[in-house]
Amino acid sequence: MSELPLYDAYTKFLNTPGTPFTVPGHKRNPLLSDALLALDLPLYGAVENLSGTSGRLRRAERLAGELWGADWAGFSVQGSSHGNMAIAMTIGKPGDKVIVARTLHKSLFFGLVLSGLVPVWVKPDIDAETGLTAGIPVERIAQALREHPDAKAVMLVEPSYVGGVSDVAAIAKLVHAHGIPLTVDAAWGAHLGFHPDLPPHALQAGADVLVTSVHKHITGFTQSSLVLAQSERIDLERLEPAFEGLHTTSPSGGIMASIDRARALLDERGEELLGNAIRLAAEARVRFHEVPGLGVVGEEIADRSPALLMHDPTKIVLTLVGTGADGQAVSTVLEERGVTLEFADRDTFCPVITLADTDETVNRMVDEIIRAIEEHRGTPRPIVPLTAWTVDPDTAMSPRDAFFADHERVSAADAVGRIAAETAAPYPPGIPALAPGERIHGDVLAALQAEAASGTRIAYCGDSQLQTVLVVKE
Ligand SMILES: Cc1ncc(COP(=O)(O)O)c(C=O)c1O
Repeated sequence: MSELPLYDAYTKFLNTPGTPFTVPGHKRNPLLSDALLALDLPLYGAVENLSGTSGRLRRAERLAGELWGADWAGFSVQGSSHGNMAIAMTIGKPGDKVIVARTLHKSLFFGLVLSGLVPVWVKPDIDAETGLTAGIPVERIAQALREHPDAKAVMLVEPSYVGGVSDVAAIAKLVHAHGIPLTVDAAWGAHLGFHPDLPPHALQAGADVLVTSVHKHITGFTQSSLVLAQSERIDLERLEPAFEGLHTTSPSGGIMASIDRARALLDERGEELLGNAIRLAAEARVRFHEVPGLGVVGEEIADRSPALLMHDPTKIVLTLVGTGADGQAVSTVLEERGVTLEFADRDTFCPVITLADTDETVNRMVDEIIRAIEEHRGTPRPIVPLTAWTVDPDTAMSPRDAFFADHERVSAADAVGRIAAETAAPYPPGIPALAPGERIHGDVLAALQAEAASGTRIAYCGDSQLQTVLVVKE
């Protein structure tokens, strides 16, 4: 096992008797706490020394930087959400333009609110057969750069929530030719680049900075994440204070140590374990292909969608419309049977397979999904793409101006034509379908209401059924 500065310090502290007069206040006192709290150590005062000068965190981050080939690495206990906001605070000043994929996560949207950057949206292609987001064509970025030569950065989400990867290398070349950085939200791509059959990770493809969730596709504790940056076009003297400024001053030592451990595991066994995940996903897709009416998204989506360079081979994405089964009803039954899917709406399922899966776990997931679909078969229906993936924003104000504008809550009927002052994002995937600063169109509102009625959670808005909407006062 390679060097593990944080993980070793965590386990050593855990097993050394002591009398802490530091926080956390539970002190791991066995008379008051339980097995859960017994594992809770702070970063500062346990894993690092209190002044943070032991150098263990810096060393662990350096090891991660070396593994991903980055000049700078930052460990976070606040998910990729934190990195997205820190990156937004780094790449420009209030009022500067940035070219942003409209499949952005709500955290990057709030990064735009925080930083005052003004987005120029670019939309990905939508795959007609599945209604899913495909890649962003290089030409679309080129056009945005021609129309907005003063843009300060291009900001993509790669891979997409459903595993598609655009031609990041070609986009990076183009963006660099304009003298600006390419930033990538790779929340779902911590495993990319660590097996020859996987797409390269964003830095390998030439991007300047990426953020990734260590807890999503590799083995970090929930909330763990990483920002990895190159210094040529990213001002590290802005990134580091932005990252620190937005980070809690009390990071969990366990979460931080888990990033160290996940990095070492990926380094030592990543190729072997990811090879297994790729095999398991391929075998599962073969079994799903045998189910009449069930759509199975695989490599062929890349042939249909020229903008999509690759599809993450560990991803399983199923479209249920041809089976007539209602995905919400099927997923409820699956949950009762102990099989919880990362994404399940009426039409689409996305069970996440990672390097931690085994033949047994994946076979059970496949058996149960097939059984539940067979129990719920109905009349096939056409695909209705999710609003989050098809949104065509009508931007009237910058996200920041709209967020801070005077606002009022009005009925849905009165909201049509007004400027939104709040976010409405079907969750998952957490892509805003309505966002502060965008004019509200009746068809989008109706589609969101229908999604809410079908059981999809519409997050971040005051009224999750969207009978009322917060709008900018005019
Ligand atoms: C594209 C994208 N970016 C960022 C995030 C936020 O990640 P985290 O939950 O680690 O904060 C998500 C979460 O689903 C996401 O889908």
